[in-house]
Amino acid sequence: MKKVAILISGGGSNMLRLVEDMTGDHPARPVLVASNDPEAGGLKKAADLGVATAAVDHRAFRGDRAGFEAALLKPLLAADPDIICLAGFMRILTPAFVSRFSGRMLNIHPSLLPKYPGLNTHARAIQAGDAEAGATVHEVIPELDAGPILGQARVPILPGDTPESLAARVLVEEHRLYPAVLRHFASDDCRDG
Ligand code: GAR
Repeated sequence: MKKVAILISGGGSNMLRLVEDMTGDHPARPVLVASNDPEAGGLKKAADLGVATAAVDHRAFRGDRAGFEAALLKPLLAADPDIICLAGFMRILTPAFVSRFSGRMLNIHPSLLPKYPGLNTHARAIQAGDAEAGATVHEVIPELDAGPILGQARVPILPGDTPESLAARVLVEEHRLYPAVLRHFASDDCRDG
């Protein structure tokens, strides 16, 4: 059985879907939900589901990214995850941190990568006049939002869409996509051991 840690920064709706899916014959179980924001709504939701939680407030490490990551590593290493899922985790991780979990850290990003890495993805897709938008689950590499793509979901961009209306349509698909990709990723025999 694979152990999964999930990193969040906010409400954690994707985290919830991942946790809810990891029951029964699922090849993985959640061992930790950690956040850079002690007020992240997802922390309570995870705790209510019986998942261990940790918070490392990045604001206590102003300008000291390495210090923040060292503090974040403590609960992570204690939980000893096989797989780390970034689910609305809004801090950029250093290459040193990412390399430590090479090939076993996933992220969900709200665009059809390689289009629109970074922030404000929905506004940029609307502004560009794109016909569709979506979400991507990919392996995390040191370069931002650039790792191997494991799955994508697409939605149409409709006349009159705002970044908010488009985000809501994409989020529905994120909630299907991420659990499906994690289930497949965790069951891959190559990753046993
Ligand atoms: C999701 O839309 C996710 O794709 C996005 O943040 C939202 C988190 O929602 N992630 C990023 O923008 C990462 N750069 P959630 O907290 O409800 O899962």
